[in-house]
Amino acid sequence: MKTTLGFWGAGKMAEGILAAASLVKGFTPQSVLMAEKLPERAKEMARRYKVRTTDDVRAVAKSASMIFLAVKPQDVAALAAEVRPLLTAKTLVVSIAAGKSIATLRRLFGREVRLVRVMPNLALRAKEGMCAICPAANATAADVRRVAAILDGAGRTVVLKERHFDAVTALSGSGPAFFAYMEQAMAEGGRKLGLPAAAARLLAEQTMLGTAAFLRQSQMDLTTFIAGVATPGGTTAAGMDVMRASDFGQVVAKTLKAAAARSAELGK
Ligand SMILES: NC(=O)c1ccc[n+]([C@@H]2O[C@H](COP(=O)([O-])OP(=O)(O)OC[C@H]3O[C@@H](n4cnc5c(N)ncnc54)[C@H](OP(=O)(O)O)[C@@H]3O)[C@@H](O)[C@H]2O)c1
Repeated sequence: MKTTLGFWGAGKMAEGILAAASLVKGFTPQSVLMAEKLPERAKEMARRYKVRTTDDVRAVAKSASMIFLAVKPQDVAALAAEVRPLLTAKTLVVSIAAGKSIATLRRLFGREVRLVRVMPNLALRAKEGMCAICPAANATAADVRRVAAILDGAGRTVVLKERHFDAVTALSGSGPAFFAYMEQAMAEGGRKLGLPAAAARLLAEQTMLGTAAFLRQSQMDLTTFIAGVATPGGTTAAGMDVMRASDFGQVVAKTLKAAAARSAELGK
């Protein structure tokens, strides 16, 4: 069977992408080849998704036309050294490695390889991921469509210039931890008002999920939405007054700035 889709690394993110790829029309598990170091993990992927697996990254380089680079950033250079002699202009490499710029990837994998850089987030595993996509100069519009067709099955995608990737890393890459922190703070606040811990978490989480779902569905302007909910003299307005007086917006802006600065540092 011809390999069309390859993976270097079959970890958590690769599994999310594979699950999304399986939704694309015409997908056949046997056309997927995943290279994974850990034999147990490879077996698990083969059992769960009926894909082919190998412990040899070169086997993937030789046969796949599109390959997701899904190993940890610190493993990228060694992997590239192994596969580089086997890659041609026919190979499309899609890197999800955090902090690895297109310039770095081109230096490692060779100039002729077509490259697309993606910054995903972990919500991809719940099919609600956010992926920013940036094609290298030699990647084609068809390459971008092919990548988006897969990643759209795991949430949302947006095509952005690479200069935005530190901001993307801060907002949607690190964002799940920031929203979880907010959920934790909301649940903790609820607990302090006497709610049982499990109920407080459910109330916080469902409210976060429901608000996002409503905003997505209605496409309402956020200021209009907040003003509509916060009737003067009401309960929401009483809470919003505290948030505004505490400069909550500034705290969030500073949080993102710090994360983006760290992303820029790590990418050097
Ligand atoms: N997790 C996130 O939220 C997130 C968000 C944005 C971007 N990313 C990026 O996504 C990438 C993957 O992250 P992850 O969380 O899925 O990592 P992970 O679960 O650790 O998966 C990587 C897998 O690749 C294997 N591997 C490493 N080198 C290999 C090689 N040469 N040949 C075959 N297999 C190899 C690893 O095995 P060993 O464990 O034995 O090394 C591991 O099983 C990273 O580059 C990360 O920066 C992740």
